[in-house]
Amino acid sequence: MNRGPVRIGLCGLGSIGGAAARLLLEHRTGFDIVGAATKEPDAVGHPLHEVVGSAAPGGPTVVGDLEDVLSADPQVILYATGSFLRDTEDDIVDCARAGVDVVSPCEELAFPFTRHAPAAARIDTAAREGGATVLGTGVNPGFLFDSLLVAATGVSWDVRTIRGHRAVDVSGFGENIHRRLGIGYTPEEFERGHEAGTIAGHVGFPESIELVCERLGLLLDGPVTERFEPFIAETPAPTRYGQVPAGYTDGFLQRATGYVGGDPFVQMDLVLHLRPESAGFKTVDSLAIEGRHPVNLTLSPGMDAIPATSAQLVNSIPGVLQAAPGLRTVKDLPAAGAWHDLQTHPFR
Ligand SMILES: NC(=O)c1ccc[n+]([C@@H]2O[C@H](COP(=O)([O-])OP(=O)(O)OC[C@H]3O[C@@H](n4cnc5c(N)ncnc54)[C@H](OP(=O)(O)O)[C@@H]3O)[C@@H](O)[C@H]2O)c1
Repeated sequence: MNRGPVRIGLCGLGSIGGAAARLLLEHRTGFDIVGAATKEPDAVGHPLHEVVGSAAPGGPTVVGDLEDVLSADPQVILYATGSFLRDTEDDIVDCARAGVDVVSPCEELAFPFTRHAPAAARIDTAAREGGATVLGTGVNPGFLFDSLLVAATGVSWDVRTIRGHRAVDVSGFGENIHRRLGIGYTPEEFERGHEAGTIAGHVGFPESIELVCERLGLLLDGPVTERFEPFIAETPAPTRYGQVPAGYTDGFLQRATGYVGGDPFVQMDLVLHLRPESAGFKTVDSLAIEGRHPVNLTLSPGMDAIPATSAQLVNSIPGVLQAAPGLRTVKDLPAAGAWHDLQTHPFR
């Protein structure tokens, strides 16, 4: 068995990929980062630790193409570029065919088997043929409303209903993400954007609900439903890039529901807001499992998406290295746990 350092590749060095690189360089041992790719032209040709602002030196010179990372023969790639399989599928297939494991926060990869069945089949086939494991994970989807929720049902007798709630202060996010989510629009623009699909809100609720129901052995009546309720700023809301004027959306509630036997079995709410506390929302994450032995969990403060997601990616590496080839989900693998030295980790 190869007990040398694990060869890790990175693709996408934005908020999540950059944080994963810093976590690896600053806090972990037992691996070599053999390649790192970004589409940011200013970063190409510079040392990884400089590009991601790591306090600890290390890592390769950043390149502009995934292909260059694959040619450095990584065992696993942390692929953090986008939310939608239409943008990520080809690269994931290339990695899998090359026999390289993939761990990605791509929301649609977390459970693509029903909504994106052809892409799921293509990735699964490439992974089995290449001998690679592919996993979509993160904080949401991946942890809060997925692996943590499934684990919490482990002490339940009967599960009658599941309710999840997460409220996030998004004032620190950039303008592009706000626009994609649905912040900074007139109510009419918000409505039109949703209908046209240009305002996506949070991506990943159907994936979480389908994953949990499958794990519990329950058949959903049909597709997960989602509805949005925008909040309109009464006073200007400060952001990193200026102000969202009064009369424009400064947040919204997104509610996803999965029906089983005609009843709303799983319901998950997400509030994304520039000023959640002043709008009356505590920034906590909570899960309530109703039944003969109810389980109520509150994480306070709620998880910060960037450190939590980057940690979930990095901490999933041992389980992915050990898993059988194919497209997997967080319900198939051991729960990710923080590791220190990958070379001596028992899972590889
Ligand atoms: N599952 C979860 O819990 C979770 C949590 C947080 C984020 N996410 C998702 O994870 C993804 C990454 O998030 P982020 O915050 O890091 O986004 P980000 O800051 O926009 O970073 C993505 C980076 O990837 C680069 N990129 C795009 N395509 C590439 C390619 N083919 N090769 C190399 N680099 C490429 C982008 O460059 P350009 O800007 O030049 O295109 C950008 O620098 C997003 O889709 C986000 O929604 C999921």
